Amino acid sequence: MDYKNILIENNDGVVKLTINRPKALNALNMETISEIGHFFESGYTSIDNLKGVIITGSGDKAFVAGADIKEFLGIESPEAGSALAKNGHDAFNRIERFHKPTIAAVKGFCLGGGFELALACHMRIAGEKAKFSFPEVNLGLLPGFNGSQRLPMLVGKAKALELLMTTDMIKADEAVNLGMANHVVPQGEEIAKATEIIEKIATKAPLAIAEVIKTVNAYQDKTKDGTAQEIASFGHLMTTKDFEEGTSAFIEKRKAAFSGE
Ligand code: CAA
Repeated sequence: MDYKNILIENNDGVVKLTINRPKALNALNMETISEIGHFFESGYTSIDNLKGVIITGSGDKAFVAGADIKEFLGIESPEAGSALAKNGHDAFNRIERFHKPTIAAVKGFCLGGGFELALACHMRIAGEKAKFSFPEVNLGLLPGFNGSQRLPMLVGKAKALELLMTTDMIKADEAVNLGMANHVVPQGEEIAKATEIIEKIATKAPLAIAEVIKTVNAYQDKTKDGTAQEIASFGHLMTTKDFEEGTSAFIEKRKAAFSGE
């Protein structure tokens, strides 16, 4: 698939996925959402030695300023509105369930559907000028891409309700204090920090990393039993070559060389 709204750049296995609609502050139109969904479903398979994906926005002003409000015009039935939301859910769930680390590198505005995109990633790095808000109630809406569920998991129910109902803008340092962002860095150093984290994770056993993601995701998935998932994942990992290599390397006092098998 040729992407029109996202740019994919592979830097030695660390992929940068840039939302590239700077004239609309990278607002997510339906085509952009399908392109993101496509990349995380099958687009990534052509990338050799994939270590992780950094999602960012084009330009300095915005990560993503939300879903594309101009596309909302003309949606008049509950079914059409719900279908739009469902597309966002499906695409963003693929990011959350991706077997390699996904990190949002946020500079500038991170609003509405853009905030939801960042929340779907495993981690968030905020540049010092990053600003997070859910402005949907100003439009007579609520978040449609699972933000109402992911936000309380990070900041708790009371703070989530406050942010969703007041639309208050959260700055980078407060985002870190609330547990919404992992790190705040000087503006322009977001990608470097995200790359450093992905490179560190790439030295670990790949199958174990995939099981960590699956198990931690099960914690917040009401259809899954995270405790049972942990027990199953632990048993599975003990039968892998990576486990044999990791334990042998420890005993032989050498660095492990994982094969991902
Ligand atoms: N959708 C479509 N276009 C958008 C947009 C959006 N979410 N956000 C910004 N743009 C466009 C503007 O229309 C403008 O385009 P034109 O030059 O063609 O007029 C361009 O981007 C630049 O924006 P502004 O002129 O508004 O820039 P500003 O500096 O004055 O303000 C801003 C910046 C505060 C981010 C303001 O653009 C804004 O409030 N944007 C909307 C934010 C919002 O409400 N997001 C939530 C969307 S709803 C949603 O996301 C629902 C969901 O969960 C699925």
